[in-house]
Amino acid sequence: MRTHYCGELNSGHIGQTVILCGWVHRRRDHGGVIFIDLRDRDGLVQVVLDPDRAEVFKRAEQARSEYVLKIEGRVRPRPEGTINPDLPSGEIEVLGAELEILNASETPPIQLDTHVADASEEVRLRFRYLDLRRPEMQERLRTRSRVTRILRGYLDDQGFLDIETPILTKSTPEGARDYLVPSRTHPGEFFALPQSPQLFKQLLMMSGMDRYYQVARCFRDEDLRADRQPEFTQLDIEVSFMTEDALMNLMEEMIRRVFKEVLDTELPNPFPRLPYHEAMSRFGSDKPDLRVPLELIDLGDLMAGVDFKVFAGPAQDPAGRVVALRLPKGGELTRKEIDEYTKFVGIYGAKGLAYIKVNDWSAKGREGLQSPIVKNLTDAAIDGIMARTGAQDGDLIFFGADKATVVNESMGALRVRLGHDRGLLEGQWRPLWVVDFPMFEHDAANQRWAALHHPFTAPKEEQLALLETDPGACLSRAYDMVLNGSEIGGGSIRIHRDTVQRQVFKLLNISETQAEDRFGFLLKALRFGAPPHGGIAFGLDRLVMLMTGAVSIRDVMAFPKTQTAACLLTSAPSPVDEAQLKELGLRLRARADAEV
Ligand code: AMO
Ligand code: AMP
Repeated sequence: MRTHYCGELNSGHIGQTVILCGWVHRRRDHGGVIFIDLRDRDGLVQVVLDPDRAEVFKRAEQARSEYVLKIEGRVRPRPEGTINPDLPSGEIEVLGAELEILNASETPPIQLDTHVADASEEVRLRFRYLDLRRPEMQERLRTRSRVTRILRGYLDDQGFLDIETPILTKSTPEGARDYLVPSRTHPGEFFALPQSPQLFKQLLMMSGMDRYYQVARCFRDEDLRADRQPEFTQLDIEVSFMTEDALMNLMEEMIRRVFKEVLDTELPNPFPRLPYHEAMSRFGSDKPDLRVPLELIDLGDLMAGVDFKVFAGPAQDPAGRVVALRLPKGGELTRKEIDEYTKFVGIYGAKGLAYIKVNDWSAKGREGLQSPIVKNLTDAAIDGIMARTGAQDGDLIFFGADKATVVNESMGALRVRLGHDRGLLEGQWRPLWVVDFPMFEHDAANQRWAALHHPFTAPKEEQLALLETDPGACLSRAYDMVLNGSEIGGGSIRIHRDTVQRQVFKLLNISETQAEDRFGFLLKALRFGAPPHGGIAFGLDRLVMLMTGAVSIRDVMAFPKTQTAACLLTSAPSPVDEAQLKELGLRLRARADAEV
């Protein structure tokens, strides 16, 4: 139907007759002359329609925003003074000779001729097909497609096989609730949608496939956030006979390549590696944003003996933590700003946010400190704080004291927030690996161990004995790839011996019968010559979100769901017919809150 894309035209086409198809981005009636900005996937071009062709002109007068047109015309230079340097086709225009209205449009509920999305997200999702016409969204999906192609290309070159795994399957434990699908042919029984292809990719290694990858859809019924969706995409990878070092190198190279090709950016080689305990200690997070040059500093030993209960209590509690966070030049912060930050850490459960403003420590000592807490601290404790934080006149020191989990979350988040608020970010891209994770974390509420990754992650070979004697001290062979404070990938070397797998299940409080019932097929496969193997999965949506500078993964998905896991475009989920339920052997119970 057409000869060119609109956005493709430039001064090289001057004199040519072209046929274009696209949408009316904007129409301006300049008393006798009509200008139409015609838009397609590639961009915009200005079309001029003169009244001397009466028929064509009349149709042009009818055209409105988002009408679909086919226009034939000649490319000519724009008159002096009307060149638009912001538009790739800004040096030329098309003098329209023929115009056909291929389709009309109702007045769009989203303003498409502005670059910013000023519509609410609800309207954007309800009319997603219009939202996706916006150049910004088109560009993001285009980048996503390129990223996927480059990742696939790299893995193909490295001898990986692209293999699909089932969507209707059995539950895989990745820590979220399952989406269930009732079976008609087996009444009362259910499939679970995969939280990841974890068990199938391990079975593919046991099948001798050696190197597997898949751009895989995963389903997790969990609480949603800006970087989480109930259905999302992983670049899922598994290899046999490879050490974690070799696999991590291969994966780093892949990520470096995609950044080089898409963003023309060189990422570090190699990526730094940070043990989990160090990450928690210095940054309060297992996905630290290394662009922020602030660190948590432990004060537990200094505070255990002070009279100030707020600090002494957590300092003496084995599960507690007391830290300082020094903010260079933080003395400038106003009372109001400090109150703001106090509220902010409260979101993470912190009961307060003590601080010391270092006004004039060098000349006046403790008299030069401004703080609601110095009165509670001895000279020795203050000297200790000042020495350890290295605080200078003009700085501010924040303090967090509570259970370690609360301190890590609240002060870790404050660290990142201060980094952004105070313009402290260093470097644009700061990838790293977090390694040496513990195998288990203690679930205090239920008094049992929980897997920090998933239950198929192997313990460090030399620490196998700790599974018996001190499971909490046992480290795993897991690794996470982190970029700018976001976990973009995670994986591990797996358990490939059924005895070890059974032992881990037992520690996780999964009984022999439960293990047999849920994972019997895996345990059996492990007994038929399972090779040593391991892998990783990247969150493709998150990776593209970071690469495109989008603020939510919804902005890099064509048809995402809302915060309450609904699709506004199709109104899914929705009720079904009684007949369908009957066929599935299901009967709905009245919802408690629906009863009157
Ligand atoms: P994990 O659960 O860490 O590992 O997931 C891997 C990566 O997937 C992304 N991700 C998500 N992205 C969007 N929405 C979500 N709800 C969501 N959940 C996770 C993250 C994460 O790093 N089977 C293992 C991998 C393995 O061991 O090989 C797994 O799924 O970027
Ligand atoms: P209070 O003695 O409760 O008035 O607290 C004195 C200072 O300590 C105030 O600035 C509080 O914000 C701060 N504070 C209280 N609890 C904590 C805590 N758990 N961690 C850090 N600071 C706290």
